[in-house]
Amino acid sequence: MKLDVLLGLQWGDEGKGKIVDVLTPKYDIVARFQGGPNAGHTIEFDNNKFILHTIPSGIFDAEKTNLIGNGVIIDPYIINKEINNLKEKNIDATRNLLISKRAHLILPTHRLLDATYEKAKGELKIGSTLKGIGPTYSDKTGRDGLRVGDLFFEDFRAKYDHLKEKHLQIIRFYNFDFSDHEIDGLLFDEYEKAWMEAAESLKKIRVVDSEYFINDAIQEDKPILAEGAQGTMLDIDFGSYPFVTSSNTITSGVCSGLGVAPRNVGKVIGIFKAYCTRVGSGPFPTELDNDDGQQLRDGGKEYGSTTGRPRRCGWLDLPALKYAIMINGVDELIMMKADVLSAFKSLKVATHYLVDGEQTEKVPMYARKNCIPVYKSLKGWNSPLDGVSSYDRLPTELKQYVRYIQGEVGVPIRIVSTGPDRTQTIFVDEN
Ligand code: GDP
Ligand code: IMO
Ligand code: MG
Repeated sequence: MKLDVLLGLQWGDEGKGKIVDVLTPKYDIVARFQGGPNAGHTIEFDNNKFILHTIPSGIFDAEKTNLIGNGVIIDPYIINKEINNLKEKNIDATRNLLISKRAHLILPTHRLLDATYEKAKGELKIGSTLKGIGPTYSDKTGRDGLRVGDLFFEDFRAKYDHLKEKHLQIIRFYNFDFSDHEIDGLLFDEYEKAWMEAAESLKKIRVVDSEYFINDAIQEDKPILAEGAQGTMLDIDFGSYPFVTSSNTITSGVCSGLGVAPRNVGKVIGIFKAYCTRVGSGPFPTELDNDDGQQLRDGGKEYGSTTGRPRRCGWLDLPALKYAIMINGVDELIMMKADVLSAFKSLKVATHYLVDGEQTEKVPMYARKNCIPVYKSLKGWNSPLDGVSSYDRLPTELKQYVRYIQGEVGVPIRIVSTGPDRTQTIFVDEN
C-alpha cells in the first residue's frame, strides 16, 4: 500500500494539525518527515486545545503509531515539554511514539546561533522562530551534526562538547553576547542543563531504524499518512528564498525524510486557507495592510502557534497555489477557515501578477515590490457557518467560491473546514 501525504501549500499554518487529526482514523501510522519545533500544529476537540511542535498530530488516537522520521530535527527539551503537557491531560504520548535514530538533534548552541545570525542580518532578518532550525540543518549538510542515535554512545558528551565549541567560536566571531539571552525563559547554562536531562529522557522513548519500520509497514499494506510541516512557499528550494525554512517541505521531502521510494508515494493531499497568511519576513504579494487584513487577523485569530507573533494576512493567491500544486503533484485539496471569510460582503482572489509591468501567472524567483497582484472580485456569502454540517447546506456563494478555485487549479476540493474543532469539517460530496 502506498503512503499518503498531507502538506501545506502556502506559508505554513494552513491547519495541517487539525486535518491530520481528522484523517487519523483512516490510517495506522502518522509520520512527520521534515522540520522541527518551528512547527506549531493545533488540534481542538472536546473543548481541549493542543499545540504540537514535534510530535505528529495522530498522537491522540492510542491505536495509531506516530513516527518522527529521520528528516525531522529534534530538540529534546521541547519534545520533553510536549510529552509532559500531554501527560497533564492524561495522554501518554510515549505509548505510541517512535523516533528515528537518524533524526538530527538541535543543540542549545544551535539556538544561540540562530539568534546570532538573525541579529547579524539586521533589517534583512528571516523572522526565524529561533528554534535553531537553520543552524541544525546546516550542521547536518555540513556533516557535523549529532543524531538521536548518538545519544546511546559513550562518546556523546565529547562529540557534543566538540560541536558546542565550534558554535561558540562562531558566536564569538559575531560578538554575540548571550550572557543575558534567554532560551525559552532560561539562561544558557540552565537551558543546557535542562536539555541534557531531557536528552536522557528521550532515550526512554522507542528509538528505531525508522526507514526499516516504514518500509516494513508499506510491505504489510498498512495505511500511512505523512504529515508536513511549514508550507510549500517556505520550502528551501522553491519557497521565497532566503525567507524560507531550511528543509524540503514538499512531497519530495517525504522520500528523503522517511526513506520511502517515490513509487511508494500515493495520494498527495494539499491544504490551503481560503485566504493567505505569513509569519516572519519575506515577500507576500497579496498582503493587506488595511482594515481587511486586520479583519482576517481578528476573525482567524491569526497569531503564531509557536511564537505568538501576529500573522500577516491577505487574499488568496492563485498563482502561488497553482505553483504549489505543480511542485507537489497534489491530487486533492482541503480548504480551511472558510468561516473567516464570512465577514466579507465581497472577496478578492489574485489571478495573475504584474511583474515589472508584464502580466504573468508564474511565481517569479523574487516576488518583491515589483510583483503586483491582479485581482478578481467575487461575491461573498457574508453569513455565519455555525451549525452547518453538510456541503449542500453551505451558502451558495461559498459553493461558488469552492467551484471557482477548483476550476482554476484543476484539482478537486474534498474538504471545507468551517472552524478549529474536529467536528467543524465538511466533506464535499459533489466531488
Ligand atoms: P498548522 O501549523 O498548519 O497545523 O496550523 P496552525 O495550527 O498553526 O494554525 C491554524 C489555526 O487555525 C489554529 O489555531 C487552528 O485551531 C485554526 N483553525 C483550523 N481550521 C480552522 C477553521 O476552519 N476555521 C477557523 N476559524 N480556525 C481554524
Ligand atoms: P507550521 O508547521 C508558519 C517561518 C518563520 C520564518 C521562516 C524561517 O506550524 O506551519 P525557521 O524557524 O524555520 O528558521 O523560520 O519560516 N516558519 C513558519 N511559519 N508556520 C510554520 O510551521 C513555520 N515554521 C517556520 O516564521 O519566517
Ligand atoms: Mg502552525
